Amino acid sequence: MNSEVIASNAKRPRKLSTEEIAEIEHELTLYPDKRAVGLEALKIVQKHQGWVSDESLLAISKYLDISPSDLEGVATFFNLVYRQPVGRNVMLFCNSVSCWIMGCEGIKQHIKDKLEIEFGETSADGDFTLIPVPCLGDCDRAPVMMVGSDLHRNLTPEKINKIILDYRNK
Ligand code: FES
Repeated sequence: MNSEVIASNAKRPRKLSTEEIAEIEHELTLYPDKRAVGLEALKIVQKHQGWVSDESLLAISKYLDISPSDLEGVATFFNLVYRQPVGRNVMLFCNSVSCWIMGCEGIKQHIKDKLEIEFGETSADGDFTLIPVPCLGDCDRAPVMMVGSDLHRNLTPEKINKIILDYRNK
């Protein structure tokens, strides 16, 4: 969504939390100028809120004095900034060549059947969002996916069943 659309929807910036501000301030000590902190600020807000709403994006824009459209450009370029609500667990499914060779299509289909979702969607219970990503850097143990910050390797349908159960029960 660009700044014009945000403006036409009359969205207002939300108030950044004390924790968010403290973490953004810390990043500001590490970078020479505010604009460079934009991506880090988006990641900080996402960590606390689960995703980056228009209201959050406007709050960061105001706080760092970066235009909403510039910040939106950063968020769009870095596709792991979520601009829509996501499930409790985000599955980042490697959709690159080594994983294809090792049969990730069948694994992907198994996940889709089990959770009844396509790429980019969230399961009806809100537990999982499935997102395709480029190589996760562990090609030797393909197929690979990340759930949250955990890497899962050598995926099989049985492993997927266990992963889904484990994260549902977390
Ligand atoms: S191609 Fe999947 S981890 Fe590298």
